[in-house]
Amino acid sequence: MFPEALTRYFADVARRPRGIFGWLFCRRWPEMHANLLQATMDALDIGPRHRVLEVGFGPGEGIANALSQATAGTVIGVDLSGAMVRRTKRRFRKAIADGQCQVLQGDANALPLESSSVDRAFALNVVYFWDPLPPVIAEFRRVLRPGGRLALGMVEPEALEDQPVYHPDVFTLYTSTQLADALQQERFSAVNIQHDVPHRRAGGLRNQRLPPVLSTVLGTGVHPMTR
Ligand SMILES: C[S@@+](CC[C@H](N)C(=O)[O-])C[C@H]1O[C@@H](n2cnc3c(N)ncnc32)[C@H](O)[C@@H]1O
Repeated sequence: MFPEALTRYFADVARRPRGIFGWLFCRRWPEMHANLLQATMDALDIGPRHRVLEVGFGPGEGIANALSQATAGTVIGVDLSGAMVRRTKRRFRKAIADGQCQVLQGDANALPLESSSVDRAFALNVVYFWDPLPPVIAEFRRVLRPGGRLALGMVEPEALEDQPVYHPDVFTLYTSTQLADALQQERFSAVNIQHDVPHRRAGGLRNQRLPPVLSTVLGTGVHPMTR
């Protein structure tokens, strides 16, 4: 559909948003993934006093949603992209000033958080950039408190391959079985895979390139009570 070099560039921007396409991405992406975010929030069951972590927050919709639930708690966002961190710090400046939110630049492979310090953790549309996956799941396990919950959402490989942002050098495609295996390897319990969380089409009828429904997967697990 697009020249290979352009697809590669879009993929790089999705991996680490920046510049004009990073700005565009921030405008379109949240609408496309609103239902996956809602399913994630339902699965996490965030309490008012919880300390919640989102990794790879991008435009910050997940942080906004978590803040509305952890009303007496804290929401921490960690993202690799300096542009996303700056933008999100501006967006949530009041919550940051009130001590309800922290926005940090960092890598999921080495989270800038203490062990056993969060009650809930989630990441949407970021797993594709984690290769290998198990060390990142181990990082989530390290920072979660025993009994804490993790939710990871992604587009199914067959659906992602058709997207204009997909490039095999940048994205690693994981099946739902691989996602479940990675959670189980880190001894997460109650591992659950929810298929076909429906996606909305960005821009409604204006964007004919995207299918009306992108099949997605939400993988959830509970941190084991014993270490
Ligand atoms: C495709 S966007 C998804 C944004 C948001 N979660 C959503 O679904 O709307 C991927 C985001 O993850 C971030 N990211 C990619 N690799 C990361 C890593 N290893 N650690 C932390 N953040 C990462 C990118 O900077 C980007 O903001």
